[in-house]
Amino acid sequence: MTAEATEIPTGRWRRAWSVIDERLGISGLAYPVPAHANGIGYILGGITFFGFLILAATGVWLAQFYHPTPEAARESVLYIMTVAPLGDIARGVHFWTANLVMATVLLHTGRIFVTGAYKRPREINWLIGLGLLSITIGLIFTGTVLKWDQEGFEALGHNVEIGDLLGAFGFWFSPTLSASLPIVGRLYIAHVVILPALGTFLLIAHFLLVKRHGISAQPADFDAAVDGGPEPSKAGSTFAVHLVRMVGFGLVILAVTTLLSLVVQAPLGPAPDPSIEVSKPWWMFLPFYPFEDWFGLPALIWAPGLLIGALALVPFIDRSRYRAPGRRRALIIAGAIVLVALVALVAYATIEPVKSHVGEM
Ligand code: HEM
Repeated sequence: MTAEATEIPTGRWRRAWSVIDERLGISGLAYPVPAHANGIGYILGGITFFGFLILAATGVWLAQFYHPTPEAARESVLYIMTVAPLGDIARGVHFWTANLVMATVLLHTGRIFVTGAYKRPREINWLIGLGLLSITIGLIFTGTVLKWDQEGFEALGHNVEIGDLLGAFGFWFSPTLSASLPIVGRLYIAHVVILPALGTFLLIAHFLLVKRHGISAQPADFDAAVDGGPEPSKAGSTFAVHLVRMVGFGLVILAVTTLLSLVVQAPLGPAPDPSIEVSKPWWMFLPFYPFEDWFGLPALIWAPGLLIGALALVPFIDRSRYRAPGRRRALIIAGAIVLVALVALVAYATIEPVKSHVGEM
């Protein structure tokens, strides 16, 4: 008998597994990862990824019934809510998962900031992450317009005026770019093709770099090694276990959003009235709403631009060799101040009366 033949396990299931594994190399996923990689803080990126899978699956179903023209868009959303099989639930899960994904991606960013995981050699992956954050926001923005209700129409008004402000660079945002396809059709293409394609490309790069660098050590262990202590352990669990936990958390998200979709319907406002501006944006855009009041629409370019720009500089400003928050006090305090300011802006934007911004440039 050959050596290969003697290695084949005896039980039927084990034999089947061995046949599949020999071809797909699934057991290769059981490579070592540190035990802390399975803690919630270090699995937030994976949960976000699972959320994107839910968004893709529900989005494909919604696309079977959605009609991206100004005349039919809102009617087709109503059709999804009332007639299409599982339409209302798919729409609800899509809506609630988008909210949760935004929350988990922000928490993921926060974890990386606090644990200094953006430091060498992960600076580029931090920047790729910022690209992913921008794409997430772009997906939520375009999704809002697609509903073609009052809120979506006002969001589109902002989109068009921002395009004007960007001058030649804003040509894509202009309704006049294409005479043959209304802008809602182009925003639909951005929502279902351009942004997902860019996001997939960045995600692949993000994951390849996480695999290449390994998950960062816990700050205390890393700092102890900097001070001459033992190297942090790179083992303790396996990626297969990490993956199972990620799917577990992801299924919890699916259960929660399914439940939410049954209890609280995803909103759809009245048909748009172009003569009024009565909506406030989703919570993730609210920090910039007061800026619009104070400085006008251009603030919607420079305020988020400054924030993303400042975040992009973080790995290059923080030159400390250490990662523990206690040893990076100035940066952590600066981060906390920005966070408190953002929360305060959201609170202020929530209670202030609705203001009119579009058409006041
Ligand atoms: C939008 C979707 C995103 C997805 C799906 C995603 C996914 C992931 C995953 C699965 C990991 C492995 C460890 C973990 O889960 O914490 C990871 C690590 C990482 N991510 Fe993200 N991420 C996203 C956005 C971001 C953002 C916005 C940033 C920062 C601006 C970022 C920066 C990083 C860095 C630096 C690491 C390495 C962390 C370490 O080694 O401890 N990611 N990401």
